[in-house]
Amino acid sequence: MIQSLLAGCRWGAAGEGEAYAPANIALCKYWGKRDAVLNLPVTDSLSVSLGRLGTHCRIALSGRDDLYFLNGCEQAAGSAFASRLRVFLDHFRGSGRYRYRVDTTNTVATGAGFASSASGFAALVLALDALHGWDCDKSTLSSLARIGSGSACRSLWHGFVRWRAGVAADGSDCHACPLGREWSSLRIGLVSVCTDAKPVSSRAAMSRTVATSSLYRSWPQQVENDMTGLVAAIEGQDFDMLGMYAEQNALAMHATMIAAKPPVLYWKPGSIEEMEQVWKARTEGVPVYFTMDAGPNLKLLFEEQNQSKIQQWFPEMQVANPWRF
Ligand code: DP6
Repeated sequence: MIQSLLAGCRWGAAGEGEAYAPANIALCKYWGKRDAVLNLPVTDSLSVSLGRLGTHCRIALSGRDDLYFLNGCEQAAGSAFASRLRVFLDHFRGSGRYRYRVDTTNTVATGAGFASSASGFAALVLALDALHGWDCDKSTLSSLARIGSGSACRSLWHGFVRWRAGVAADGSDCHACPLGREWSSLRIGLVSVCTDAKPVSSRAAMSRTVATSSLYRSWPQQVENDMTGLVAAIEGQDFDMLGMYAEQNALAMHATMIAAKPPVLYWKPGSIEEMEQVWKARTEGVPVYFTMDAGPNLKLLFEEQNQSKIQQWFPEMQVANPWRF
């Protein structure tokens, strides 16, 4: 698959490649794969990118072995970080059997529970493109990033991004594309509840849910409904509609995993406290909604004009502006 995506591309390797990609938060989640090797999803998904919160990546050829640096610190060859990158880079050794030095720097607070592999793989693919001079279009780079981590295919763009599930078995029609709509007042608040390593990776939770959760059967229908609502909310700039669909989609995703056997429950007591804060703020007239990924932390959705009010409810939150990058 990778070979066909890169067919006809040149493979220069001069100097280094450098790139930035934003992290992204799904408003309509990717949850379940139709192909686990190529990371082909069961359904479409829709995200908003986090502007200046993301990953800077520099890549150059190295001598004998790959070298990996994360936020300036060299990572042991056997570490989870190095292993995941090595497996991905094995697709890109070329006929020269290249070895790489990769420097990854995250601008999203490291260790706050939001470090995302999505921006990491997207930045890495962009940096590889620059290093080798492939000159690929963004759709191709999105498909390449998808093979590192599904959600990474949405981090190739700023703003709202839709990932089309496609139908082709080889994934040739499965990549993301920008929605082409802006919402300049929309903000994302990152609320950290727990920064411990996850007991179950999102990849394992996803496959367990598909294999064992009776609620997963209703997920494709849920996505279809929420996707229609979210796209209409974005077109009409209807904030309550956007928040309502995003929150319901996140809760429905968590319901599918809670019904898996054995269950996957990422929530901590603090997660529920923060959810209750959001609901309480809403009953008091503050327009704020949340979404959550495969972890205990919340991402709040609100509009700029309400930011100071919301900061009183959530004093520790870090604010991302998707439209400033
Ligand atoms: C809950 O993209 O991390 O964040 O493709 O196995 O690497 P892999 O999974 P990953 O899953 C993300 C799941 C999610 C929802 C989303 O981002 O759409």
